[in-house]
Amino acid sequence: MAVVGKFDPKDMQFRHLGPTGLKVSVLSLGGWLTYGGTEKGNIVKDCLETAWNHGINFFDTAEAYAAGECEVEMGNALKELAWPRDEYVLSTKIFFGTSRKEPNTRGLSRKHVVEGLKSCLQRMQQPYVDIVLAHRPDVGTPMKEIVEGFTQCIRNLNLAYYWGTSEWSATQIMEATQVAERYNLIAPIAEQPQYNAFHRQRFEVEYAPLYEQFQYGTTIWSPLASGLLTGKYNDGIPEDSRFSKNKSFFEGTIKSLQTEEGKAKIAKVRKLTEIAEKIGGTATQLSLAWCVKNPNVSTVILGATKPSQIEDNCKAMQLLEKMTPEIMEEIEKILDNKPAPPATFGRER
Ligand SMILES: NC(=O)c1ccc[n+]([C@@H]2O[C@H](COP(=O)([O-])OP(=O)(O)OC[C@H]3O[C@@H](n4cnc5c(N)ncnc54)[C@H](OP(=O)(O)O)[C@@H]3O)[C@@H](O)[C@H]2O)c1
Repeated sequence: MAVVGKFDPKDMQFRHLGPTGLKVSVLSLGGWLTYGGTEKGNIVKDCLETAWNHGINFFDTAEAYAAGECEVEMGNALKELAWPRDEYVLSTKIFFGTSRKEPNTRGLSRKHVVEGLKSCLQRMQQPYVDIVLAHRPDVGTPMKEIVEGFTQCIRNLNLAYYWGTSEWSATQIMEATQVAERYNLIAPIAEQPQYNAFHRQRFEVEYAPLYEQFQYGTTIWSPLASGLLTGKYNDGIPEDSRFSKNKSFFEGTIKSLQTEEGKAKIAKVRKLTEIAEKIGGTATQLSLAWCVKNPNVSTVILGATKPSQIEDNCKAMQLLEKMTPEIMEEIEKILDNKPAPPATFGRER
């Protein structure tokens, strides 16, 4: 029987993921700290469904999220939703393991890359993921073995179509790419870095050569700085919020809000809110749209504990055209944190 298409892109935009033919929605959805962690059951399905109904086709998880429970919850939701498998893109990440103590159940040895990914797929009840990412670099495994492990997953075992990196240095990504070229292996295609209005240096400066030389893609995380850019932490820590529900993990962040630097960040969020309101949006939507405006961002991974947050965040798409060069300039002045580009010593590229 022919598969009936169910996906409606609405006003979503799609970008190629790095140098590949794969297209991902510029907004996507991930499950860190939320699915399998604080949120379980129907709410997970409702969040995924709301995202999909707003034109989101890309979903992200990791073996480490809630020690594997995120994959279980997202897998259950995907099974229930029963979308055609060729109408969504799924990624997971290998490195941290699922909190077991045996040393080979984490890292990027060929053994853990292959066995770890097989376990992810079992938890998700999926035959393959579209992209598997190395959740961190593994300085204890030779780069050739790492690239071979991911190549084996893709080329020999059909467990994934592409592989990528997360929080690797530009040098490590270049090394992996060169090793792949030298030994006829498969090179990584995208990085998953933190990127938001308060966290810019590595994405904008260190990775710049990767965009230029390899069209390296990016699936960026914490676009709202874990919620700080929504304004919800302007006057303290609300009870039903990420910082409150994960107090020990965010202890340092919570303390830092009391410092001069922290207070300056909150002051910036207040000023961003004023600009957002001027163009008919919120600080949340403006912060997300600011990320989308960067052409080196392939997709902005949203995090959400409630479907209403996804609905709210997807309105960032309507704000894009109102983010004129003048508005972007106003935002730049408020942020006052644009990283300086590397010196060119009077030479032009
Ligand atoms: N590769 C990596 O190392 C790495 C690391 C972190 C994340 N990630 C990926 O990136 C994804 C997104 O990261 P993130 O969750 O940190 O993103 P984020 O957008 O910075 O934070 C999301 C959190 O902010 C709050 N929020 C979101 N929208 C809101 C709204 N409209 N109003 C009020 N509060 C709102 C929610 O928390 P509350 O409702 O609980 O306050 C939500 O869970 C993750 O799920 C994961 O897939 C990857």
